[in-house]
Amino acid sequence: MDVISIHEYTMEMIQEAATRIRQSFTEKMEIETKANANDLVTNIDKETEQFIVEKIQAYDASHRIFGEEGMSEEQFADLKGVVWIVDPIDGTMNFIRQQRNFTISIAIYEDGIGKLGYIYDVVRDELYYAIAGQGAYVNEKRIQPLEPIELDKAIIGINASWVAKNNRLNTEKIAKLIHTVRGTRSYGSATIEMMYVATGRLESYMSMRLSPWDIAAGAVIAHEVGAKCTTLKGEPMNLLAQDTFIIANPSIHEQLISEYIELI
Ligand code: IPD
Ligand code: CA
Ligand code: CA
Ligand code: CA
Repeated sequence: MDVISIHEYTMEMIQEAATRIRQSFTEKMEIETKANANDLVTNIDKETEQFIVEKIQAYDASHRIFGEEGMSEEQFADLKGVVWIVDPIDGTMNFIRQQRNFTISIAIYEDGIGKLGYIYDVVRDELYYAIAGQGAYVNEKRIQPLEPIELDKAIIGINASWVAKNNRLNTEKIAKLIHTVRGTRSYGSATIEMMYVATGRLESYMSMRLSPWDIAAGAVIAHEVGAKCTTLKGEPMNLLAQDTFIIANPSIHEQLISEYIELI
């Protein structure tokens, strides 16, 4: 796999996709629901994925493509070969309601190993990317490795549903965590939250259920700065199915899982 050639091609492709998304702001979008009333998709999600899929196929038809909106191979049983994992718009609800706080997310894995990752915060014009082993960047600027931090000085990305009554985890422990840390945030885009951990704007982000396309690119970038990505059980993150997920500064990752996260 020629990573430099793929890198140059992907950088250009993302800019083209973003231009099309920006143009769509002046047009009326078509909104549909998927699994439930709050699970939204627009014609722009689909058109962006279609555009990216066609570009990848034109680059190398032997590459496999795994995208949220199913414009290419839909069932993924393994990660053999070169696999592109694409979320055309991460943060669709933000895209629809706020026209900000969404990204284009693209990862390239080879035989299950993350090689390249791209997350483009279109409206802020912040392109996070990494080639494995060569450091992570935001636009032209190198992202510095994460410094250790204590939990009582941390800001964590967590969603309000974690403290609402639920039967999936011990909410008392989560309440204790919220009282321990310096603050909490919720941005509504897993990729933005992961990149905020990678750049030290947050120390952790966790979710009860994310899909491979939500985390694949972010994990490649995060790895370059030392952020740790696992399931909430501390197992390797799952790139073949929906699962729990946590990304954290390595100095608090273990403590978060062992002291505060108790899945039922
Ligand atoms: C969603 C966002 C959201 C997260 C959801 C994801 P989408 O992705 O990342 O922040 O909480 O679980 O599904 O559907 O907007 O691409
Ligand atoms: Ca979605
Ligand atoms: Ca997503
Ligand atoms: Ca999406």
